[in-house]
Amino acid sequence: DDDLVVLGIETSCDDTAAAIVRGNGEILSQVVSSQADLLARYGGVAPKMAEEAHSLVIDQVVQDALDKASLTERELSAVAVTIGPGLSLCLRVGVQKARRVAGSFNLPIISVHHMEAHALVARLIEKELQFPFLALLISGGHNLLVLAHDLGHYTQLGTTIDDAIGEAFDKTAKWLGLDMRKSGGPAVEQLAEEGDAESVRFSIPMKQHKDCNFSYAGLKTQVKVAIASRNIDAKVPLSCASSLDRSSRADIAASFQRVAVLHLEERCERAVEWALKIEPSIKHLVVSGGVASNQYVRARLDQVVQKYSLRLVCPPPNLCTDNGVMIAWTGIENFRVGRYDPPPPANDPDDFM
Ligand code: KG4
Ligand code: ZN
Repeated sequence: DDDLVVLGIETSCDDTAAAIVRGNGEILSQVVSSQADLLARYGGVAPKMAEEAHSLVIDQVVQDALDKASLTERELSAVAVTIGPGLSLCLRVGVQKARRVAGSFNLPIISVHHMEAHALVARLIEKELQFPFLALLISGGHNLLVLAHDLGHYTQLGTTIDDAIGEAFDKTAKWLGLDMRKSGGPAVEQLAEEGDAESVRFSIPMKQHKDCNFSYAGLKTQVKVAIASRNIDAKVPLSCASSLDRSSRADIAASFQRVAVLHLEERCERAVEWALKIEPSIKHLVVSGGVASNQYVRARLDQVVQKYSLRLVCPPPNLCTDNGVMIAWTGIENFRVGRYDPPPPANDPDDFM
Protein backbone atom coordinates (compact mmCIF):
# COMPACT_ATOMS: atom_id res chain seq x y z
CA ASP A 1 0.00 0.00 0.00
CA ASP A 2 2.83 2.37 0.82
CA ASP A 3 4.12 1.90 -2.72
CA LEU A 4 0.98 3.37 -4.24
CA VAL A 5 1.37 7.12 -4.99
CA VAL A 6 -1.59 8.88 -6.59
CA LEU A 7 -1.93 12.41 -7.97
CA GLY A 8 -5.46 13.85 -7.55
CA ILE A 9 -6.77 16.75 -9.67
CA GLU A 10 -9.94 18.75 -8.91
CA THR A 11 -11.39 21.54 -11.09
CA SER A 12 -15.16 21.05 -10.81
CA CYS A 13 -16.05 24.52 -9.53
CA ASP A 14 -13.99 27.53 -8.52
CA ASP A 15 -10.90 25.98 -6.96
CA THR A 16 -8.02 24.49 -8.92
CA ALA A 17 -6.59 21.80 -6.66
CA ALA A 18 -4.01 19.03 -6.81
CA ALA A 19 -2.56 16.70 -4.20
CA ILE A 20 -0.40 13.62 -3.90
CA VAL A 21 -1.42 10.90 -1.47
CA ARG A 22 0.16 7.56 -0.61
CA GLY A 23 -1.81 4.31 -0.41
CA ASN A 24 -1.47 4.31 3.40
CA GLY A 25 -3.20 7.70 3.58
CA GLU A 26 -0.10 9.82 3.99
CA ILE A 27 -0.64 13.23 2.37
CA LEU A 28 2.58 14.09 0.54
CA SER A 29 1.40 17.45 -0.76
CA GLN A 30 -1.70 19.56 -1.17
CA VAL A 31 -2.16 22.69 -3.32
CA VAL A 32 -5.29 24.81 -3.81
CA SER A 33 -5.51 27.86 -6.03
CA SER A 34 -8.71 29.72 -5.28
CA GLN A 35 -10.72 31.98 -7.56
CA ALA A 36 -12.47 33.58 -4.58
CA ASP A 37 -11.12 37.04 -5.44
CA LEU A 38 -12.48 36.77 -8.97
CA LEU A 39 -15.84 35.58 -7.65
CA ALA A 40 -16.11 38.41 -5.16
CA ARG A 41 -15.57 40.88 -7.99
CA TYR A 42 -18.17 39.33 -10.28
CA GLY A 43 -20.61 38.14 -7.61
CA GLY A 44 -20.66 34.48 -8.61
CA VAL A 45 -19.19 31.76 -10.80
CA ALA A 46 -19.26 32.57 -14.52
CA PRO A 47 -18.37 29.26 -16.25
CA LYS A 48 -16.30 30.73 -19.08
CA MET A 49 -14.30 32.90 -16.72
CA ALA A 50 -13.82 30.02 -14.28
CA GLU A 51 -12.59 27.81 -17.12
CA GLU A 52 -10.01 30.41 -18.12
CA ALA A 53 -8.86 30.80 -14.54
CA HIS A 54 -8.40 27.00 -14.23
CA SER A 55 -6.51 26.84 -17.54
CA LEU A 56 -4.15 29.61 -16.43
CA VAL A 57 -3.04 27.87 -13.23
CA ILE A 58 -3.55 24.11 -13.72
CA ASP A 59 0.01 23.35 -14.90
CA GLN A 60 1.53 25.31 -12.04
CA VAL A 61 -0.79 23.77 -9.42
CA VAL A 62 0.16 20.24 -10.49
CA GLN A 63 3.85 21.15 -10.67
CA ASP A 64 3.68 22.65 -7.16
CA ALA A 65 2.06 19.46 -5.86
CA LEU A 66 4.91 17.39 -7.35
CA ASP A 67 7.59 19.78 -6.06
CA LYS A 68 6.17 19.89 -2.53
CA ALA A 69 6.14 16.09 -2.47
CA SER A 70 9.69 16.06 -3.93
CA LEU A 71 8.48 13.71 -6.66
CA THR A 72 8.51 13.59 -10.43
CA GLU A 73 5.69 12.24 -12.60
CA ARG A 74 7.74 9.04 -13.07
CA GLU A 75 7.27 8.13 -9.42
CA LEU A 76 3.45 8.27 -9.59
CA SER A 77 1.33 5.10 -9.72
CA ALA A 78 -1.81 6.66 -11.19
CA VAL A 79 -3.68 9.93 -11.80
CA ALA A 80 -7.15 10.49 -10.30
CA VAL A 81 -9.39 13.27 -11.59
CA THR A 82 -12.88 14.63 -10.88
CA ILE A 83 -15.19 13.86 -13.81
CA GLY A 84 -18.38 15.29 -12.24
CA PRO A 85 -20.67 16.67 -11.08
CA GLY A 86 -19.62 20.23 -11.80
CA LEU A 87 -19.30 22.83 -14.53
CA SER A 88 -18.39 20.90 -17.68
CA LEU A 89 -16.07 23.61 -19.02
CA CYS A 90 -14.16 23.51 -15.75
CA LEU A 91 -14.11 19.72 -15.37
CA ARG A 92 -12.62 19.50 -18.83
CA VAL A 93 -9.53 21.49 -17.82
CA GLY A 94 -8.75 18.95 -15.09
CA VAL A 95 -9.51 15.91 -17.22
CA GLN A 96 -7.32 17.16 -20.06
CA LYS A 97 -4.45 17.81 -17.67
CA ALA A 98 -4.86 14.35 -16.10
CA ARG A 99 -4.81 12.74 -19.55
CA ARG A 100 -1.72 14.70 -20.59
CA VAL A 101 0.19 13.58 -17.49
CA ALA A 102 -1.09 9.99 -17.68
CA GLY A 103 -0.42 9.77 -21.43
CA SER A 104 3.12 11.13 -21.17
CA PHE A 105 4.13 8.89 -18.27
CA ASN A 106 2.09 5.79 -19.06
CA LEU A 107 -0.09 5.98 -15.93
CA PRO A 108 -3.58 4.59 -15.37
CA ILE A 109 -6.42 7.11 -14.91
CA ILE A 110 -9.06 6.90 -12.20
CA SER A 111 -12.35 8.77 -12.74
CA VAL A 112 -13.68 10.24 -9.51
CA HIS A 113 -17.16 11.43 -8.55
CA HIS A 114 -16.82 14.71 -6.65
CA MET A 115 -19.49 13.91 -4.03
CA GLU A 116 -18.20 10.40 -3.43
CA ALA A 117 -14.80 11.98 -2.77
CA HIS A 118 -16.28 14.41 -0.19
CA ALA A 119 -17.63 11.35 1.68
CA LEU A 120 -14.69 8.97 1.30
CA VAL A 121 -12.02 11.42 2.43
CA ALA A 122 -13.42 10.73 5.91
CA ARG A 123 -11.91 7.23 5.62
CA LEU A 124 -8.48 8.75 5.13
CA ILE A 125 -8.65 10.66 8.40
CA GLU A 126 -10.59 8.05 10.42
CA LYS A 127 -9.10 4.63 9.84
CA GLU A 128 -11.88 2.96 11.87
CA LEU A 129 -14.56 4.19 9.51
CA GLN A 130 -15.88 1.07 7.78
CA PHE A 131 -18.79 0.61 5.40
CA PRO A 132 -21.71 0.89 5.84
CA PHE A 133 -21.98 4.47 7.10
CA LEU A 134 -24.28 7.46 6.72
CA ALA A 135 -23.03 10.68 5.10
CA LEU A 136 -24.35 14.23 5.04
CA LEU A 137 -22.66 16.19 2.25
CA ILE A 138 -23.19 19.94 2.49
CA SER A 139 -21.63 22.45 0.13
CA GLY A 140 -22.45 25.38 -2.11
CA GLY A 141 -24.11 23.24 -4.73
CA HIS A 142 -25.13 20.04 -2.94
CA ASN A 143 -27.13 18.95 0.07
CA LEU A 144 -27.18 15.17 0.20
CA LEU A 145 -27.94 12.44 2.70
CA VAL A 146 -26.38 9.22 1.48
CA LEU A 147 -26.23 5.72 2.89
CA ALA A 148 -22.87 4.28 1.86
CA HIS A 149 -23.28 0.49 1.74
CA ASP A 150 -19.93 -0.22 0.16
CA LEU A 151 -17.42 1.37 -2.22
CA GLY A 152 -19.40 2.52 -5.26
CA HIS A 153 -22.71 1.38 -3.74
CA TYR A 154 -24.78 4.24 -2.33
CA THR A 155 -28.45 4.95 -1.58
CA GLN A 156 -29.54 8.58 -1.67
CA LEU A 157 -31.89 9.21 1.26
CA GLY A 158 -32.40 12.91 0.59
CA THR A 159 -31.34 15.88 -1.49
CA THR A 160 -32.32 19.52 -1.84
CA ILE A 161 -35.42 20.43 -3.79
CA ASP A 162 -33.98 23.89 -4.55
CA ASP A 163 -30.83 25.43 -3.02
CA ALA A 164 -28.04 23.93 -0.93
CA ILE A 165 -27.23 25.27 2.54
CA GLY A 166 -23.89 26.77 1.37
CA GLU A 167 -25.76 28.88 -1.18
CA ALA A 168 -27.96 30.23 1.65
CA PHE A 169 -24.84 31.07 3.71
CA ASP A 170 -23.27 32.81 0.70
CA LYS A 171 -26.36 34.93 -0.07
CA THR A 172 -26.82 35.82 3.59
CA ALA A 173 -23.21 37.03 3.68
CA LYS A 174 -23.71 39.05 0.52
CA TRP A 175 -26.94 40.70 1.71
CA LEU A 176 -25.39 41.48 5.09
CA GLY A 177 -22.55 43.20 3.25
CA LEU A 178 -19.88 40.88 4.68
CA ASP A 179 -16.42 40.36 3.26
CA MET A 180 -16.86 37.63 0.63
CA ARG A 181 -13.22 37.17 -0.30
CA LYS A 182 -12.97 33.83 1.49
CA SER A 183 -16.57 32.74 0.57
CA GLY A 184 -19.61 33.74 2.56
CA GLY A 185 -19.93 30.82 4.99
CA PRO A 186 -17.02 31.58 7.31
CA ALA A 187 -17.98 35.28 7.43
CA VAL A 188 -21.53 34.45 8.56
CA GLU A 189 -20.25 31.90 11.10
CA GLN A 190 -17.89 34.46 12.61
CA LEU A 191 -20.46 37.25 12.83
CA ALA A 192 -23.08 34.85 14.26
CA GLU A 193 -20.92 34.36 17.35
CA GLU A 194 -21.75 37.93 18.40
CA GLY A 195 -25.47 37.67 17.72
CA ASP A 196 -28.61 36.49 19.52
CA ALA A 197 -29.80 33.39 17.65
CA GLU A 198 -33.33 33.71 19.06
CA SER A 199 -33.84 37.33 18.08
CA VAL A 200 -35.17 36.91 14.53
CA ARG A 201 -37.98 34.38 14.05
CA PHE A 202 -37.21 32.43 10.89
CA SER A 203 -39.33 29.35 10.27
CA ILE A 204 -37.79 25.92 9.79
CA PRO A 205 -38.11 24.69 6.18
CA MET A 206 -40.28 21.70 5.21
CA LYS A 207 -41.54 20.91 8.71
CA GLN A 208 -44.63 19.27 7.22
CA HIS A 209 -42.65 16.97 4.90
CA LYS A 210 -41.71 13.85 6.82
CA ASP A 211 -38.81 12.92 4.54
CA CYS A 212 -35.06 13.54 4.31
CA ASN A 213 -35.12 16.21 1.62
CA PHE A 214 -33.94 19.77 2.09
CA SER A 215 -35.02 23.23 0.98
CA TYR A 216 -33.10 26.46 1.49
CA ALA A 217 -34.70 28.81 -1.05
CA GLY A 218 -37.48 29.84 1.36
CA LEU A 219 -35.08 30.54 4.21
CA LYS A 220 -32.99 32.64 1.84
CA THR A 221 -36.06 34.72 1.06
CA GLN A 222 -36.87 35.07 4.77
CA VAL A 223 -33.38 36.46 5.37
CA LYS A 224 -33.69 38.87 2.47
CA VAL A 225 -37.03 40.12 3.78
CA ALA A 226 -35.68 40.48 7.32
CA ILE A 227 -32.79 42.61 6.07
CA ALA A 228 -35.00 44.68 3.77
CA SER A 229 -37.59 45.41 6.47
CA ARG A 230 -34.93 46.61 8.88
CA ASN A 231 -33.48 48.78 6.16
CA ILE A 232 -36.89 50.31 5.41
CA ASP A 233 -37.03 51.29 9.06
CA ALA A 234 -33.67 52.90 8.55
CA LYS A 235 -34.77 54.30 5.13
CA VAL A 236 -31.97 52.69 3.11
CA PRO A 237 -32.19 50.24 0.19
CA LEU A 238 -31.34 46.52 0.40
CA SER A 239 -28.10 47.03 -1.46
CA CYS A 240 -26.89 49.03 1.55
CA ALA A 241 -27.22 46.15 4.00
CA SER A 242 -23.94 47.14 5.56
CA SER A 243 -25.64 50.29 6.85
CA LEU A 244 -27.34 48.09 9.45
CA ASP A 245 -25.41 48.29 12.68
CA ARG A 246 -23.14 45.42 13.56
CA SER A 247 -25.32 43.96 16.30
CA SER A 248 -28.45 43.82 14.06
CA ARG A 249 -26.43 42.07 11.39
CA ALA A 250 -25.01 39.66 13.95
CA ASP A 251 -28.54 38.86 15.18
CA ILE A 252 -29.67 38.05 11.63
CA ALA A 253 -26.56 35.92 11.00
CA ALA A 254 -27.01 33.98 14.23
CA SER A 255 -30.75 33.46 13.74
CA PHE A 256 -30.24 32.34 10.14
CA GLN A 257 -27.47 29.92 11.11
CA ARG A 258 -29.56 28.43 13.93
CA VAL A 259 -32.53 27.68 11.68
CA ALA A 260 -30.42 26.54 8.71
CA VAL A 261 -28.75 24.02 11.01
CA LEU A 262 -32.00 23.00 12.75
CA HIS A 263 -33.18 21.88 9.32
CA LEU A 264 -30.03 19.74 8.99
CA GLU A 265 -30.51 18.31 12.50
CA GLU A 266 -34.09 17.32 11.85
CA ARG A 267 -33.27 15.63 8.55
CA CYS A 268 -30.24 13.85 9.98
CA GLU A 269 -32.27 12.45 12.84
CA ARG A 270 -34.78 10.96 10.44
CA ALA A 271 -32.02 9.71 8.15
CA VAL A 272 -30.29 7.94 11.05
CA GLU A 273 -33.56 6.21 11.89
CA TRP A 274 -34.11 5.16 8.27
CA ALA A 275 -30.49 4.09 7.86
CA LEU A 276 -30.48 1.96 11.01
CA LYS A 277 -33.45 0.02 9.64
CA ILE A 278 -31.65 -0.69 6.35
CA GLU A 279 -28.12 -1.14 7.74
CA PRO A 280 -28.35 -1.81 11.50
CA SER A 281 -24.55 -2.02 11.79
CA ILE A 282 -23.81 1.64 10.94
CA LYS A 283 -21.71 3.36 13.59
CA HIS A 284 -20.83 6.70 11.97
CA LEU A 285 -22.31 9.82 10.46
CA VAL A 286 -19.81 11.48 8.12
CA VAL A 287 -20.35 15.21 7.61
CA SER A 288 -18.31 16.69 4.78
CA GLY A 289 -18.37 19.39 2.10
CA GLY A 290 -17.52 23.07 2.63
CA VAL A 291 -20.28 23.80 5.17
CA ALA A 292 -19.01 20.95 7.38
CA SER A 293 -16.09 23.19 8.34
CA ASN A 294 -18.59 25.25 10.36
CA GLN A 295 -18.04 24.62 14.10
CA TYR A 296 -21.67 25.27 15.05
CA VAL A 297 -22.82 22.72 12.44
CA ARG A 298 -20.40 20.16 13.87
CA ALA A 299 -21.41 20.74 17.48
CA ARG A 300 -25.14 20.50 16.76
CA LEU A 301 -24.87 17.37 14.62
CA ASP A 302 -22.66 15.78 17.25
CA GLN A 303 -25.58 16.12 19.68
CA VAL A 304 -27.89 14.40 17.19
CA VAL A 305 -25.68 11.35 16.64
CA GLN A 306 -24.96 10.92 20.35
CA LYS A 307 -28.63 10.15 20.89
CA TYR A 308 -28.15 7.08 18.69
CA SER A 309 -24.71 6.19 20.05
CA LEU A 310 -23.19 6.92 16.66
CA ARG A 311 -19.94 8.80 16.08
CA LEU A 312 -19.61 11.96 14.05
CA VAL A 313 -16.72 12.02 11.60
CA CYS A 314 -15.85 15.43 10.17
CA PRO A 315 -12.70 15.91 8.10
CA PRO A 316 -10.59 18.97 9.05
CA PRO A 317 -11.77 22.18 7.30
CA ASN A 318 -9.15 22.05 4.52
CA LEU A 319 -10.38 18.57 3.58
CA CYS A 320 -14.08 19.58 3.83
CA THR A 321 -13.86 22.31 1.20
CA ASP A 322 -12.92 21.29 -2.34
CA ASN A 323 -9.43 19.82 -2.44
CA GLY A 324 -7.18 17.44 -4.34
CA VAL A 325 -6.56 15.08 -1.42
CA MET A 326 -10.11 13.75 -1.48
CA ILE A 327 -9.76 13.04 -5.21
CA ALA A 328 -6.42 11.26 -4.82
CA TRP A 329 -7.76 9.23 -1.87
CA THR A 330 -10.95 8.19 -3.69
CA GLY A 331 -8.67 7.26 -6.59
CA ILE A 332 -6.68 5.03 -4.25
CA GLU A 333 -9.83 3.31 -2.93
CA ASN A 334 -11.00 2.60 -6.49
CA PHE A 335 -7.55 1.63 -7.78
CA ARG A 336 -7.23 -1.03 -5.09
CA VAL A 337 -10.35 -2.80 -6.35
CA GLY A 338 -9.33 -2.53 -9.99
CA ARG A 339 -11.57 0.39 -10.98
CA TYR A 340 -9.34 2.40 -13.29
CA ASP A 341 -8.71 2.98 -16.99
CA PRO A 342 -5.53 2.07 -18.85
CA PRO A 343 -3.12 4.90 -19.73
CA PRO A 344 -4.39 7.08 -22.60
CA PRO A 345 -2.17 7.25 -25.70
CA ALA A 346 0.66 9.78 -25.42
CA ASN A 347 0.02 12.94 -27.48
CA ASP A 348 -3.71 12.38 -27.11
CA PRO A 349 -5.48 15.13 -29.06
CA ASP A 350 -6.86 17.64 -26.58
CA ASP A 351 -10.35 17.71 -28.07
CA PHE A 352 -11.31 14.15 -27.10
CA MET A 353 -14.29 15.26 -24.96
O1 KG4 B 1 -17.37 21.93 -0.90
P1 KG4 B 1 -17.14 23.35 -1.28
O2 KG4 B 1 -15.76 23.92 -1.10
O3 KG4 B 1 -17.53 23.60 -2.79
C1 KG4 B 1 -18.65 23.06 -3.39
O4 KG4 B 1 -18.55 21.90 -3.87
O5 KG4 B 1 -19.68 23.79 -3.41
O6 KG4 B 1 -18.21 24.22 -0.46
C2 KG4 B 1 -18.26 25.62 -0.56
C3 KG4 B 1 -19.40 26.13 0.29
C4 KG4 B 1 -19.66 27.62 0.14
O7 KG4 B 1 -21.04 27.84 -0.01
C5 KG4 B 1 -19.14 28.19 1.46
O8 KG4 B 1 -19.79 29.38 1.85
C6 KG4 B 1 -19.45 27.07 2.42
O9 KG4 B 1 -19.12 25.90 1.69
N1 KG4 B 1 -18.66 27.16 3.64
C7 KG4 B 1 -19.19 27.41 4.86
C8 KG4 B 1 -18.11 27.49 5.76
N2 KG4 B 1 -16.95 27.30 5.06
C9 KG4 B 1 -17.31 27.10 3.76
N3 KG4 B 1 -20.47 27.57 5.26
C10 KG4 B 1 -20.69 27.80 6.56
N4 KG4 B 1 -19.72 27.91 7.49
C11 KG4 B 1 -18.41 27.77 7.14
N5 KG4 B 1 -17.45 27.87 8.06
ZN1 ZN C 1 -17.40 20.24 -3.26
